[in-house]
Amino acid sequence: MSEITYRKIVVERFGGPEVLRTVEATLPEPPPGHARLKVLAAGVGFTDLMARSGDYLLQRRPPFGPGYELVGEIVDFTADGPRPAWLTSGTRVAVSLTKMGAYAEYVTLPLWQLVPLPDGLDPVTAAAIPLDHLTAVSVLETHGRVRAGDTVLIQGASGGVGQALSRLGALLGLRMYGTASAPGAEELLARHGVTHIDYRRQDFGEVLREREPEGVQAVFDHIGGPGLRKGYRALAPGGVLVSYAFAGRPGHMVADTVRGAVRVKAMNLRPGRRTALSMVPHEIKAGHDWYRTALERLLGMARSGRTVPRIGAVEPLMKAADVHAALERREIAGKVVLTTEA
Ligand SMILES: NC(=O)c1ccc[n+]([C@@H]2O[C@H](COP(=O)([O-])OP(=O)(O)OC[C@H]3O[C@@H](n4cnc5c(N)ncnc54)[C@H](OP(=O)(O)O)[C@@H]3O)[C@@H](O)[C@H]2O)c1
Repeated sequence: MSEITYRKIVVERFGGPEVLRTVEATLPEPPPGHARLKVLAAGVGFTDLMARSGDYLLQRRPPFGPGYELVGEIVDFTADGPRPAWLTSGTRVAVSLTKMGAYAEYVTLPLWQLVPLPDGLDPVTAAAIPLDHLTAVSVLETHGRVRAGDTVLIQGASGGVGQALSRLGALLGLRMYGTASAPGAEELLARHGVTHIDYRRQDFGEVLREREPEGVQAVFDHIGGPGLRKGYRALAPGGVLVSYAFAGRPGHMVADTVRGAVRVKAMNLRPGRRTALSMVPHEIKAGHDWYRTALERLLGMARSGRTVPRIGAVEPLMKAADVHAALERREIAGKVVLTTEA
């Protein structure tokens, strides 16, 4: 075992895509309970763009590496107890990180975070799974506790998490409404049986009042603001509003997120309906077993074709700044995956 020299992308200072820089670094031998991975693919999420701008609740200080999810090949590891049969050099694993840093050629990670890829699942598809789909599991199962036949509203059903919610919601047998404005959204949402509401032209509260007068069992929200109260009012007795993000004012996102979270907590004090907050990086840290079981299940579902993420673009890792710029211009629909292969 020896030191590995590699390149990674770092946010040098908060700002636009131009603050993403390539730097060289070295990885020493893995400490006990850790593995070094050669990264094959890293997923890009909207959260990466927020963190780069300095507008993210779980913000790290620059310089830091963005990226919450990756697929890598185990280079070497230092076991600190009994090891499962799959834990060998060369095994491909998927990971959802808790502190970002996936935009790199190599990473060192704790062994508990590695989830082996099922045979035949390609790294690009697998790298598009962890964060969006674990968030969907957290929202639907942990906090939403929805059941087959329940009617739900998915805000932003065309987005990364919104599409994961739609895919898993369809498998669960939910009746789904989804807000979206992207071109082709109606068709995209219809693939998972989601009834489209164009939030630029329609008021989702009015649509639901008219079509679901008894109310819906759950609303999944990543916008916050006045829509929170409206979503809460759309709930049937016993229904739940699950918030997993707050779209605040640029430059004030952290304060707006805290304000939104406090509102959601306060709404939960009222009787008759529930509210809940989903924050997956914390949930992973607090529940290693939940994380491993859920990610293993999700990767298996992707392998069997039951949840296939929509890949919008596959780009070299070193093009991360161009990818962020294209996403900000809304030029790419679907998940972007960065790869380290030449
Ligand atoms: N809680 C957690 O642990 C967790 C985990 C992952 C992500 N997140 C957060 O979840 C949010 C979404 O992430 P993502 O990666 O899914 O982002 P994304 O792919 O950019 O999707 C966001 C979607 O929101 C929709 N949207 C924008 N304004 C809207 C409005 N006023 N009403 C309804 N929909 C609207 C957009 O739809 P159109 O383009 O169709 O308009 C877009 O598709 C981010 O804030 C992210 O940080 C939280």
